[in-house]
Amino acid sequence: MSETIPSGIDLPETKVAGHVRHGSNAGQPLTRREGILKVKGAADYAADHHPAGLLHAVLAVSGIARGRVTHLDIAAAKAHPGVVEVMTPANAPKLAKSPDLKEHPFAWRLDLLQNDLVRYANQAIAVVIAESLEAAAEGAVLLAPRYEAEPARIGLDADGPQDLYVVGAGSPATDGAGDVEKGLADAVQSIAATYETPPQYHNPMEPHAAVAEWIGGKLILHTPTQALSMAQGRIASLFGIKPTDILIKSPYLGGGFGGKGSISGPQILGIMAARLVQRPVKIVLRREQMYGPVGHRAATRQAFRLGVDAAGALTALEHRTRTTSSAFDDFFEPAGGASRHLYASPAIFTTHEGVRNDTGTPTFMRAPGEATGSIALESAMDEMAEKCGLDPLEFRLRNYAENEPITGKPYSSKALRECYAQGAARFGWASRPLAPRRMRDQDGLLTGWGVGTALFPALMFQAEARAILRANGPARVEIGAHDMGQGAWTSLAQIAAESLGVDYGTLDFEIGSSDLPNAGIAGGSAHTATAGTAIHRAATDVIAQLTALAVNDQRSPLFGAGNRNLVARGGRLSLQDDASRGEAYEAILARAGRASLEGKGSAAPDPTNQQAYAMYAHGAVFAEVKVDPDLGQIRVTRLVGAFAAGRVINPRMVRSQYYGGMIWGISFALHEHALVDPRSGRVMNANLADYHVPVNADVPSMDAIIVEEHDPHVNALGIKGVGEIAVTGTAGAIANAVWHATGVRVREFPITLDKLLG
Ligand code: MOS
Repeated sequence: MSETIPSGIDLPETKVAGHVRHGSNAGQPLTRREGILKVKGAADYAADHHPAGLLHAVLAVSGIARGRVTHLDIAAAKAHPGVVEVMTPANAPKLAKSPDLKEHPFAWRLDLLQNDLVRYANQAIAVVIAESLEAAAEGAVLLAPRYEAEPARIGLDADGPQDLYVVGAGSPATDGAGDVEKGLADAVQSIAATYETPPQYHNPMEPHAAVAEWIGGKLILHTPTQALSMAQGRIASLFGIKPTDILIKSPYLGGGFGGKGSISGPQILGIMAARLVQRPVKIVLRREQMYGPVGHRAATRQAFRLGVDAAGALTALEHRTRTTSSAFDDFFEPAGGASRHLYASPAIFTTHEGVRNDTGTPTFMRAPGEATGSIALESAMDEMAEKCGLDPLEFRLRNYAENEPITGKPYSSKALRECYAQGAARFGWASRPLAPRRMRDQDGLLTGWGVGTALFPALMFQAEARAILRANGPARVEIGAHDMGQGAWTSLAQIAAESLGVDYGTLDFEIGSSDLPNAGIAGGSAHTATAGTAIHRAATDVIAQLTALAVNDQRSPLFGAGNRNLVARGGRLSLQDDASRGEAYEAILARAGRASLEGKGSAAPDPTNQQAYAMYAHGAVFAEVKVDPDLGQIRVTRLVGAFAAGRVINPRMVRSQYYGGMIWGISFALHEHALVDPRSGRVMNANLADYHVPVNADVPSMDAIIVEEHDPHVNALGIKGVGEIAVTGTAGAIANAVWHATGVRVREFPITLDKLLG
């Protein structure tokens, strides 16, 4: 992997009560703030907590996908040595609100032993609580459930499809502009092609886990979450207690990918178990139990019709998606979104229909909708380019959207042309033969090159932060932000240190606890922009207070400097044009008799800007694959991605996100496929041996180019997200490279050797 680290990129100049200041903490490729702790095993993940008197809870899960539990051998389980209690619908604590009540779109309906119904395989049907993990697991086996089973509805053709009004968590199911039928009638070339993507599961290294302890009516919970405040609110509602009576600690997550965005049923069951036995309880999902109750990426079938004119410009783009959701909740993978924002066409039509399956409810999974839609759209664009006899990169450039296609809005910034150019140059795209099956390496392997465009919306949510300057001690910043492995702890601390004008190394920076200011959700690739803005504003607020103390105090060397430019840097406030005139923060506070000063800041999307501009991060990914002509074995041998996502706070962390996303792209194109038995509704490969994700040997030389992009509109700091974009583009680029190597177009993902040979 190449590591060209750009030089430091300063945060924007920030007006503080008439003063301007700069710093140098942001833009540096710092290593992870908590990296040493993690490497040494000293970072305490949720399941590492062992409060005194801890009991272990193990789920007994359903082996059928639909029906009722008719019998559990509770006596056998309770008689097992070490088993303390068996929680079933007969004795489970009654909740204050139905877990099927939809208080907000992210409140997924949960299965919490409030009845004997089974809605999907691997649903919890009992919880065995014991003195040891082994005893609990053995007790769960002894329950030997019996069922009254109904046939499972599984797959894209189960049941009748239904019309949808919303997909994801609120996007319109149907959208478009112009007349697609006219566009197709006017076209000189057109294609129709249908692609399928399989169910996928998140598989973070750390499974969902909870250590729950009730102290009186108050709850202490160690659990991984991407949204502390939302989890706190949901638990409070279910148990009928105040959010402030719940303390959630979530400093470290072993991956989230969207699957830890909303609190899951098993985590709540751990809390219920602790309440039932009046002792602390730990619950950790076994890997196979992750395939059901904690979300997944649903299967899709995506039908495209594209038409182009004689110049190779799109005249019509139609994208019809069928996707699955559970039988009882409403998350539908918004795959059509990919076609709404990327390529110019006078006519675009996207729509979704849904099919009910007896599975757990799907949810957000890294680039939800965008990833699924992207691999299909990029394949369709490639097929269209081929039919026109055009180089696929040239074809994309001919359909470059100068404004957002459906709305006509200008982009807040869009350096996609630079991404194409820099990526193509680094990859050596210019020497690509147009026709497939033209390149072989020295070992006789078929070699192919493909390109895909990456796109992800630049979102912004709500967050609050607190910044504290202290007379005796380092500056402190508090925010209930989440580091699920993406590097937020580091990047946000860089923003904090930069904005406060203090040294990164001495800054006291706390995240990952529900008693800190609400940072919203770490999702939608929006956490750095959102939490970073709140931190920046909190810092700005406290520096403004400090400035007022200094310039209004006759004893300060800055007295009367109210109209001069000041800089806050290195823990000192001084004149910009005369650094010798100034003083340390501590001195200002001490003289004012203040132990500390506290600033507050918040962030929220700016509706005016959002109305005026289309805001996206973009990228271009180039892939090389080699395919064994006899065996069909596929290897990705090179990946070059070039991404433009606004301001880069930490190039090391950003590049790490790009690499991670590109690896997900390999995974999407070639590996991941949850095989669901249509008779039982059970995932047949619910383990990391049979559910394939790329390992080191599958990951080639990768190059992620950070393309410079200045965005004055997207938010105060000019930051777009980087967490999800790289899976888009990459998956399609690999699929297109496989076609270029072999001349075989596989439209059913993942592309596996049997599909090339068949
Ligand atoms: Mo992401 S799928 O918004 O955690």
